[in-house]
Amino acid sequence: MTAYRLVAIPGDGVGPEVVGAARRVLDAVGAQHGFEIEWLEVIAGGAGIDTHGVAIRAQDIELAGAADAILLGAVGGPRWDDPNAAVRPEQALFALRGGLELFANLRPVRVHPALVPASPLRPELLDGVDLLIVRELTSGLYFGRPSEERATVDGRVAVDTLWYTEAEIRRVVRLAFELARGRRGRLTSVDKANVLATSRLWRKVVEEERGRFPEVEVGHQLVDSCAMLLVRQPAAFDVLVTENLFGDILSDEAAVLAGSLGMLPSASLGDRRTAHGRFGLYEPIHGSAPDIAGRDLANPLGTILSAAMLLRWSVGLEDAARAIEDAVSQALDARFRTRDLVPAATDTGDVRLVGTAAMADAVIARLGRSWGQPAGTGGIDDDTATMVATDTLLGLP
Ligand code: IPM
Ligand code: MG
Repeated sequence: MTAYRLVAIPGDGVGPEVVGAARRVLDAVGAQHGFEIEWLEVIAGGAGIDTHGVAIRAQDIELAGAADAILLGAVGGPRWDDPNAAVRPEQALFALRGGLELFANLRPVRVHPALVPASPLRPELLDGVDLLIVRELTSGLYFGRPSEERATVDGRVAVDTLWYTEAEIRRVVRLAFELARGRRGRLTSVDKANVLATSRLWRKVVEEERGRFPEVEVGHQLVDSCAMLLVRQPAAFDVLVTENLFGDILSDEAAVLAGSLGMLPSASLGDRRTAHGRFGLYEPIHGSAPDIAGRDLANPLGTILSAAMLLRWSVGLEDAARAIEDAVSQALDARFRTRDLVPAATDTGDVRLVGTAAMADAVIARLGRSWGQPAGTGGIDDDTATMVATDTLLGLP
């Protein structure tokens, strides 16, 4: 049996719960598709600071880089939020992204029909939404130096540096063109070229690259108007490519289309190939959600869908990736919902309110099952799972 080596980085807050859920899904799909996973766990984020004094150790980055792929939960929390602290949990993310040269962050946004009521947008706006945000991940304001606060005679001053090299722009733009070519052939490059020099260079590089991809239709959009269009005509977008900070902001906005931040997966990729595919780091786009941590409340679907992306990109198992995505769709069709997917006004009697673990069970029970096949054949009693989780929820303060 083929064995893939994956590094799990549960991190902080709800991270361990959602990673635990996605690991169970991956192990289950492996049993069905004839592969095994050798898991290795790395402590990082706030947990890394508590255990090792740093967000992530250099040897752990090396270890993670030697695996076939990384599955990460989330890092951060109020315990480590001191603005004057020299070590911060988020440093683990930047060390992994930068250290492993994962320069392209893919954030697909699809609207599952059953979740249309979960979005605050009018249903007709959500019709046909299927977009992919390609966020540059290892440069821009997140990595530019200097980035610091200084004491001056006029008071404190802070500086961050927005810096892009031509090569950094070109490699992510090229990947976005390739991805657009494999989809509906439309690429929107998002910038602030009316103000920023880095954006004007970004635009030039996009224009230079477009000749290599004559089948892709390219448009430039200023980030402010793009933010508006994302909620006004989201179905008009196919692939968006943008710099680090714009991509961070726009992807949270786009999550509103999918009904919840908890639904969105992501893949961070570089150029490096492994024996099985492209090396990458996979994580949900949501944060550590400390307010609901440890209470079996977090939506694991963003992480489970990230695991599907992992199989597709880093392991080359498209069928197994699809099996997970189909099972997630079927669980949603069967009205399984974590709390974030239930709008306040909804009668919860209409849905099967479940916690993190029971949502993963609902997905696992539907792996490899064709549409419409009755529930329960996966060896897990869905209704029992629902009852248990609902009881847990009823006990909430
Ligand atoms: C994300 C997150 C991170 C980012 C935070 C946690 C540093 O918001 O992955 O989108 O800004 O990149
Ligand atoms: Mg973000």
